[in-house]
Amino acid sequence: MQNRPRVVLTHKIPEKGLNLLRDDFEVIILDPSKSIPEQLKEQLPSAHYLVPLLSVEIGHDLIKNSSNLKGIANYAVGYNNIDIRSAKEYGILVTNTPDVLTNATADLTWGLILAVTRRIIEAERECRNPEFQEWAPEFMLGYELSGKTLGILGMGRIGRAVAQRGIGFGMEICYYSRSAVKTLPKTKNMQYISNLTEFLQLSDIISLHVPYTAETHHLIGEKELKLMKSTSFLINTARGKVIDEIALIKALRNKDIAGSGLDVFYDEPKVPRGLRDLNNVVMTPHIGSATREARDAMSVMVAENIHAMEKGLIPPNLVQEMKKERE
Ligand code: NAP
Ligand code: GLV
Ligand code: GLV
Repeated sequence: MQNRPRVVLTHKIPEKGLNLLRDDFEVIILDPSKSIPEQLKEQLPSAHYLVPLLSVEIGHDLIKNSSNLKGIANYAVGYNNIDIRSAKEYGILVTNTPDVLTNATADLTWGLILAVTRRIIEAERECRNPEFQEWAPEFMLGYELSGKTLGILGMGRIGRAVAQRGIGFGMEICYYSRSAVKTLPKTKNMQYISNLTEFLQLSDIISLHVPYTAETHHLIGEKELKLMKSTSFLINTARGKVIDEIALIKALRNKDIAGSGLDVFYDEPKVPRGLRDLNNVVMTPHIGSATREARDAMSVMVAENIHAMEKGLIPPNLVQEMKKERE
């Protein structure tokens, strides 16, 4: 059908959402074997909507040359890949995919916490030897979680879901955010700490759940790592650049902290040699939201946001910076 509005997707997303888009739009999916930035330059001037992955930078120049673009529906909850200021300047709406991936990401965060504190990956490797070392009182000792303090840095949707699971594990919860969360139950095992130093000194497991912004760049660096307990663990399922990765490698090597669980890296998809060489780190390749349920729901959310924008409505998942403006 001619003259339908055009949606350009930088990569294929699950069929559920794609089919919803195909009902009303001309859908163009870029060729994964060719340069995405080059294809975007060609395709964007005639596109009405864009669906990028979090790995695709949508900067000022691309936005400036997209004269027909009405909306960008990011296939992710984090949207640090998009230049929001430029989008605003050109009147382009930006949406993301919150909530539907919260449980998936919180589960993966807990997978990393358990894997690194109980050395599950090292232990699994041991089982792949023809024989493993016999049961021994001091073989493969890790750390227990009950009674320990779980520190949540960034008490948003995912932070809260991770905290909730922590209560199930018998942990004390403390959190650091720019302000106390008013809607949290006021129980004694859920404590707001307004001072980052105190938070870092108190926590046994620190789990990062802030978005990546100018303010959260290198939020955890050499100084912060030095404040952490030598028996503590740092978990990151937020964004790689929230941590100074070089300082983290040094801290792990020197045993300034006990270990780390990482789903995100500074310069994805690169994983530095320094991390790959360490035993006290468990890594996954940015799979926080990689469940069938979450990825399907994200694709539907993308389609719903685009449909709403095309109808001239405020899309349900407009990003915070644009919502504020409309309030
Ligand atoms: P969210 O609900 O917006 O939560 C973010 C929290 O961070 C908010 O509570 C916010 O509170 C706090 N925050 C923001 N800036 C801060 C700062 N400078 N210092 C301290 N706290 C700050 O977002 P979410 O849905 O939980 O997602 C969080 C992030 O996880 C996403 O942005 C994304 O980058 C990442 N993520 C990764 C995966 C993965 O696959 N690994 C999957 C999903 C999400 P205030 O604004 O009140 O301070
Ligand atoms: C994943 O990292 C997301 O931000 O959705
Ligand atoms: C361990 O397997 C035990 O029985 O203590």
